[in-house]
Amino acid sequence: MTTLTQEERIRNTGTGSLPSISTRAKLTQDSPIRKLSAIAEARKQKGIKVFHLNIGQPDLPTPPVVFETIRGLKLSTLAYAPSNGLPQALEAWKSYFRTFDIDVEEKEIIVTAGGSEAIVFAMCAICDYGDDIIVFEPFYTNYNGFASIANVKLNPIPLRIQDGFHLPPSEEIVRRITSRTRGILVCNPSNPTGTIYSREELSRLADIVKRHGLFLLSDEVYREFAYDTPVSSVLHFPEIAEQAVLLDSTSKRFNVCGARIGALASHNKEVVQSAFRFGMARLSVASIEQLALVPLLTSPRTYTQPIVEEFRRRRDIVYEGLGSIPGVTFYKPEGAFYLMVGLPVKDSEHFTKWLIEEFAYEGETVLLAPGPGFYASRNAGSNEVRLAFMLIGDDLRKALGVLRVALEEYAKKF
Ligand SMILES: Cc1ncc(COP(=O)(O)O)c(C=O)c1O
Repeated sequence: MTTLTQEERIRNTGTGSLPSISTRAKLTQDSPIRKLSAIAEARKQKGIKVFHLNIGQPDLPTPPVVFETIRGLKLSTLAYAPSNGLPQALEAWKSYFRTFDIDVEEKEIIVTAGGSEAIVFAMCAICDYGDDIIVFEPFYTNYNGFASIANVKLNPIPLRIQDGFHLPPSEEIVRRITSRTRGILVCNPSNPTGTIYSREELSRLADIVKRHGLFLLSDEVYREFAYDTPVSSVLHFPEIAEQAVLLDSTSKRFNVCGARIGALASHNKEVVQSAFRFGMARLSVASIEQLALVPLLTSPRTYTQPIVEEFRRRRDIVYEGLGSIPGVTFYKPEGAFYLMVGLPVKDSEHFTKWLIEEFAYEGETVLLAPGPGFYASRNAGSNEVRLAFMLIGDDLRKALGVLRVALEEYAKKF
């Protein structure tokens, strides 16, 4: 095989220039969460301590049973797993769902490479090019990337910080439905707002999708992180059994983000079969990790309870800490480990950059995720930041103290 030189490749295009990448590739956004990370690293090199409140990577250890299971595996060949998942993994997912009164059979589940792949599969299964999916904004920023991969348009409905980012009246949602709308995607509990949509809210969505012939996709990767009331699943609504698609992941609840194991579950045979076919195209999901997570999925509460209790403490610290900062708008997060905070600044992109690049208080500063990256609508979220409570208690208190001083200083400067 001959390898072309750069010059030969350019000549072969016939235009004298390199071929262009796709418009969709160009339009796919960089993660706004990671944007400021390089600046943070440079700051650390200069001896400044950076409190990371920007990213949702849990900082707690992975349950040792995962590594013990891996060490105990007696595999002679690392073979492809079946495209829908290993039988042991499917059985474990079924049992996991049963813990939450979600009844699905193994044949209604597809094991995916993280919740991320489940979401892309669901989008691809229900949408053709140019179709749209309603999302509530602010939303998990990677929905933009998933929509780009799936060639789907996101159709955003703004939520309000004053309402704790709960759903607007049904008429407002119905008004956004277009001739190309194929579904509604809800994240419950929500990243980035920490909101849990009540049974009544989900029931309204169920009613809308039923009346308008849409799918209801529900991203429930934070299910256990529910501090006051349990989360209702989209599969708890028999009236939309065949319109509901559950998207799930082991990443956060078990501190196993690197295992990349998620799932798609639905009573809609065509959707599951589509995900299966997409699964066949990518052959399979990592087999060792599927097996390693079986003990967690079959006895979930043993592992999630201590993690959730830790995050409840952090939620309370954040709520109390924010109360001592003048001019901020916030609410008590009901779930997940995030909240959107309204700051007394005009441009949160400018503020967060200044905070990480220039500001320090007693040798410490804070990294936050600017709000606009969580919105699709122009100019939305410009005075908001997303705060992920990913630090242990004392560091969390210190980080909020630094934020308070930074806001005072910023107000004097700009
Ligand atoms: C709301 C939400 N959905 C899905 C994912 C995807 O997670 P994973 O692909 O690790 O399962 C994340 C990760 O942060 C998330 O926050």
